[in-house]
Amino acid sequence: MPVVITVLNSYSGWALAAEGALLRDPLLASVGALIGFSGAILTTIMCDAMNREVVSVVLGGVGTKGGVAAPAGGGGEKREMGDWRECSAERAASALATAKSVIIVPGYGLAVAKAQYAVADIVRSLTEKGVRVRFGIHPVAGRMPGQLNVVLAEAGVPYDIVEEMEDINADFDETDVALVVGASDTVNRDAEEDPASIIAGMPVLRVWKANTVIGLKRSMGSTGYAGVDNPVFYGENTEMLIGDAKDTLSAVRDELSRA
Ligand code: TAP
Repeated sequence: MPVVITVLNSYSGWALAAEGALLRDPLLASVGALIGFSGAILTTIMCDAMNREVVSVVLGGVGTKGGVAAPAGGGGEKREMGDWRECSAERAASALATAKSVIIVPGYGLAVAKAQYAVADIVRSLTEKGVRVRFGIHPVAGRMPGQLNVVLAEAGVPYDIVEEMEDINADFDETDVALVVGASDTVNRDAEEDPASIIAGMPVLRVWKANTVIGLKRSMGSTGYAGVDNPVFYGENTEMLIGDAKDTLSAVRDELSRA
């Protein structure tokens, strides 16, 4: 759907450019072309990020490269994932405070919980303790382009610690803690490892390569936008902090300030 929106946005620009040409109005034609090109560039970036073919979207399809229709926001496969480990806010705070490097991966859940202020406080607290903290942002994290960048900026998170997926993905190997805050599809290991998954081939942040993954979500019974469960939340090096992200992160922040 987001790709379809950017395609339509691009079409509106080209329609405007055509109108400008018909009316012999160079300004209208130029503005239309600008909108058309911007929409086309954004479409290409988003198609790459979601592993969709531009051509199939332009011709009206929103399926994957393999031709399997993607569910429009939920309703995909749900399979048995096995056991998972719960962790407390105290344990999460201790893992973060004793880490040398932390990468926070925010997703839709952070934005919807309005947890950006608590996360900004945690970053300040960890930085004071000498921990290297960065953010890894997926190009389609959240529900609109740049949503997580805007939300973090709103809370005063410094720009220089907010990195794009392709710049930070190789660093998870040497990261002590990956803190996944309300993200699921954008950190789903199946996208790389299960060719049968409906999100197979979508580039993802490789959080599972960190020494410890701490995942934040409200329950283990739900999936992300694509409707698929995430094996990362059941991984051997993963601990789950269950609850609304604003509440759980506020509890982690309070624990850190006591330490
Ligand atoms: P999602 O895959 O949608 O996962 C959201 C996660 O947040 C879930 O694990 C959910 O689990 C959790 N969550 C929701 N509310 C929460 C809360 N209040 N507190 C804590 N956790 C909460 O998010 P993502 O990783 O950001 O991926 C984005 C998805 O949206 C992609 O599939 C992308 O293609 C799609 N999409 C993107 C856009 C753009 S342009 N960015 C537009 C439309 C669609 P619980 O429900 O258990 O809490």
